[in-house]
Amino acid sequence: MQPLANITPLKPAGAIEVRNVGQIFKTTSQDVVALQDVSLDVKPGRFVVLVGPSGCGKSTLLMMMAGLRQQTSGTITISGAPILEPDPNRVGVVFQEASLFPWLTAEENVEFPLALRRVSKDERRAKAQDALKLVGLEGFGKRHPHELSGGMKQRVSIARGLVQDPPVLLMDEPFAALDEQTRMTMGDELLRIWAATGKTVVFVTHSLTEAVYLADEVIVMSPRPGRIVDHLQVSLPRPRTYEMLSGDAFGRMRDRIWQHIRKSA
Ligand SMILES: Nc1ncnc2c1ncn2[C@@H]1O[C@H](COP(=O)(O)OP(=O)(O)OP(=O)(O)O)[C@@H](O)[C@H]1O
Ligand SMILES: [Mg+2]
Repeated sequence: MQPLANITPLKPAGAIEVRNVGQIFKTTSQDVVALQDVSLDVKPGRFVVLVGPSGCGKSTLLMMMAGLRQQTSGTITISGAPILEPDPNRVGVVFQEASLFPWLTAEENVEFPLALRRVSKDERRAKAQDALKLVGLEGFGKRHPHELSGGMKQRVSIARGLVQDPPVLLMDEPFAALDEQTRMTMGDELLRIWAATGKTVVFVTHSLTEAVYLADEVIVMSPRPGRIVDHLQVSLPRPRTYEMLSGDAFGRMRDRIWQHIRKSA
């Protein structure tokens, strides 16, 4: 594994520990129990995929791991310490929409979290360029988002999540808005980045094929209130290949996940 030049040397990859987490949203009409007694361990460097029916609390759980929302009960630690607020040195986040600032170039978008932390201009530029290179966008730094394809924009947003070299990367349906071909390419690209950096990844998707293709482990959640109903170890060898998609082992795992989701439909 090669550390990125000019990016802080890799820290030990982050472990995630979720213990008895519950979330109740208080609304004017009623209390919504979004998550109930969710416990989960993600070992450093693992690629874990979360699946479950719409509204089961996947994004809520990810927001909590990112320190963007506090749970009603239970605890979450990242690299051994609670996550009480966003901490881009420990956790990078990539959302479904690339959510780039249209008036900033790709490079400036990637630099943005560093600018917020008052990192010097030279250091910012160097780190942003390394991160853009890592996601295959070397030479595209001066382009604005409207000059980039959907896949390229999502690469910029991955670069932004990685720019502070956090040990953990959380991704909430990052490829959902992309066409199928771009999505497959981006999946392979993400696996390449993951293998090169040793990050812990927690990835949310509605695509069961994408889940099995990418994951070391797939965690299946029940309909609201979200609980964990299955936890699969995906034993397919790496690197993953297109041919594996039509294999028996692949089909069996996808079916097992589908049976859970189907029951909840
Ligand atoms: N701020 C909020 N106030 C009230 N209820 C909320 C709030 N945020 C989420 N919820 C509710 O909590 C539940 C879980 O929402 P969440 O967005 O985490 O689901 P999800 O699994 O990510 O769904 P999807 O697959 O559609 O993205 C849903 O029923 C949702 O309506
Ligand atoms: Mg969601």
